[in-house]
Amino acid sequence: MQSLEEIEREIKNCKRCELWKTKTNYVPGEGNPKAKIVFVGEAPGREEDKQGRPFVGNAGKYLTEVMQKFGLKREDVYITNVLKCRPPNNRDPKPEEVEACKPFLIKQLEAIKPDVIVCLGRHSAGVIFELFGLNFPGISRVRGKIFEIDKWGKNVKVIAVYHPAAVLYRPQLKEDFENDFGKIMEVLKEKKVRETTLLDFV
Ligand code: URA
Repeated sequence: MQSLEEIEREIKNCKRCELWKTKTNYVPGEGNPKAKIVFVGEAPGREEDKQGRPFVGNAGKYLTEVMQKFGLKREDVYITNVLKCRPPNNRDPKPEEVEACKPFLIKQLEAIKPDVIVCLGRHSAGVIFELFGLNFPGISRVRGKIFEIDKWGKNVKVIAVYHPAAVLYRPQLKEDFENDFGKIMEVLKEKKVRETTLLDFV
């Protein structure tokens, strides 16, 4: 199995779709290779493309703020996107771009084997839910709900939330977004309690 660093190197040489021609930097993802939680967005925006880092623009600043509010540090989690290159003018990802880029996301998840996967927005949720054989009736139907899958020999939770850019655009979504973060934290805490209890019996 490839390490995250090897996957990152492969991403930075990718020409599987046309987006490499218009991007400034590849944005493979960043964070803790041993993260218990992975956040998956849609695609890099202008600022991410400029810096080669995920979620560093306005939506990223808001995401980081909410993470901090709930006691999560960026360096403890892993953050990536479905697409590793910015689509011109932030247009929606094309299906062929998603198909070309998806193997990288799959390999990143395989390398990290997180306990919790958070889908940021409908594009990410659509891709991740399909990947794990979950029905996806739309973001507003699934957001904040906890889906359980058997993966990597353990129980893994998948949670979708609104995209932070959508929340900035429609502040009335803020309450749902932050409540959903509360649920994410509960799931993480539950996992921790279970692990500690198991260790007590060893
Ligand atoms: N929106 C995303 O989906 N990903 C980023 O990295 C930034 C904005």
